[in-house]
Amino acid sequence: MKNYANIRGDRMEAYSRFAYVYDMLMEDVDYEGWVDYVESIFHRYETKPKNIAELACGTGNISNLLAFRGYHVIGTDLSEDMLSVAQEKAVDLGMQVVYLHQDMREMMLPNELDCILCVCDGINYILHDDDLQNVFQSVYEHLKRGGLFIFDISSYYKLSHILGKNTFAENYRDVSYIWENYFDEEKRICDFDLTLFIREGKLYRKYTENHRQRAYTEDEILGMLGKIPYRKIETFDAFTFHPPAGESERIYFVCQK
Ligand SMILES: C[S@@+](CC[C@H](N)C(=O)[O-])C[C@H]1O[C@@H](n2cnc3c(N)ncnc32)[C@H](O)[C@@H]1O
Repeated sequence: MKNYANIRGDRMEAYSRFAYVYDMLMEDVDYEGWVDYVESIFHRYETKPKNIAELACGTGNISNLLAFRGYHVIGTDLSEDMLSVAQEKAVDLGMQVVYLHQDMREMMLPNELDCILCVCDGINYILHDDDLQNVFQSVYEHLKRGGLFIFDISSYYKLSHILGKNTFAENYRDVSYIWENYFDEEKRICDFDLTLFIREGKLYRKYTENHRQRAYTEDEILGMLGKIPYRKIETFDAFTFHPPAGESERIYFVCQK
């Protein structure tokens, strides 16, 4: 692991210190398979996108792979720390991806994109309905006719029943974490209190971050998308083309302009 010892502190913004251990904690995620799934959606829609923007791209796991597979990719994220990891990995891989520091609520992208992606919970970080409605509208405006908006959410079921009210912990050699979650039924917000212990020489430094995600139902999201004139909208249980079920943990939405 890199030594980011110049970054000091205790209580941090979401995805600041965590950015530097994110990939280690996500090492079991099959990102190649994830990109295969996205490409299978392109195939289903008989489209071959060229220009793709990924919102909330994080450390670039999806964006860099898409670039590797020949797409022209722009990755945007709210966290400069996540983007700096993404950029560094793109350079190591010899990939050209344009990484932009941007809040998706204030999107500034080229128009006429073939596809806009937002996967692995980016949408759950938008906590208010009016902000999410604006994001959806803005995505629509940035797509060309026939273009696809593909995004997922961690489902209401997952945030309220699986993650919420539970504590998770892992203990690795260079980093340990405790991830305490609280689900507020009334506000429908899941608070993730993350405590990280990161090795610096012989000692471990403690950091804390708070992440907040909003639990949306499929119907709520469909209600918002329904206000935008997409010609086709489909929903799937993640990584399949089956409809979502009550216990789906991740739900995919595919909208065609
Ligand atoms: C769980 S990570 C997912 C990262 C990446 N998509 C992946 O698949 O690994 C969620 C990301 O959403 C970003 N994010 C949260 N709120 C955002 C916003 N308003 N605009 C843009 N990015 C945001 C965070 O900085 C973080 O990188």
